[in-house]
Amino acid sequence: VRPERCVVAVDGPSGSGKSTVSRRLATAIDGVYLDTGAMYRAITWAVLQAGADLQDADAIVKIAQETTLSIGTDPLAPRFRVNGTDVDAAIRGPEVTGAVSAVAAVPAVRAMLVRLQREIISAAPRIVVEGRDIATVVAPDAELKVYLTASAAARAQRRSAEDATDVAATEADLNRRDQLDSSRAADPLRQADDAVTVDTTGMGIDEVVAHLLSMLNSKVSS
Ligand code: DC
Repeated sequence: VRPERCVVAVDGPSGSGKSTVSRRLATAIDGVYLDTGAMYRAITWAVLQAGADLQDADAIVKIAQETTLSIGTDPLAPRFRVNGTDVDAAIRGPEVTGAVSAVAAVPAVRAMLVRLQREIISAAPRIVVEGRDIATVVAPDAELKVYLTASAAARAQRRSAEDATDVAATEADLNRRDQLDSSRAADPLRQADDAVTVDTTGMGIDEVVAHLLSMLNSKVSS
């Protein structure tokens, strides 16, 4: 499949396979890839760097406004910079992971990042966008909207294999973040009514990507 123009929205909780699947799908359609979670993580990195109080929404918004984000969209190497500093490793670290839900809950931060996300989406002919609110808020007109899930155990297993961390601790942390992300007032994690749910528990990456490609194929050719 190589549609002329298309937007694919991939939402779901942490560890559902969103990143791997989205990058592979973007490559398959010769498109770009936008990791919106990495944008929230990059702002969080700047907030921590500035030593701001995570309870102080005004301080967080001010830092976000003064931050220059460079957002890589190459699915093979989506590199991020914050005020010129390479943050690809740092934004995956435990400090950022522990603080990101608080930053992502601030409505003015979301408004800023959603505006940027829409600009990137409209400039790209083919793009796969992953996050929590892509089908519901950022790109409700996306050609294909996928909600990826997997059992909590499977998600924890994948995450801890990536990070070499303890499975039980990872599962507890994923549950904590999903709870925060789903219960916040501003654009919580929620499945769009017209999104297709794909439960990836027990499915291999190739299988998931092939399934999404075939769904996209029937959407854009119909
Ligand atoms: O997908 P991730 O783990 O990198 O996302 C990091 C955090 O950002 C996660 O706690 C949820 C939040 N997020 C969000 O609120 N909206 C998005 N579109 C993407 C991520």
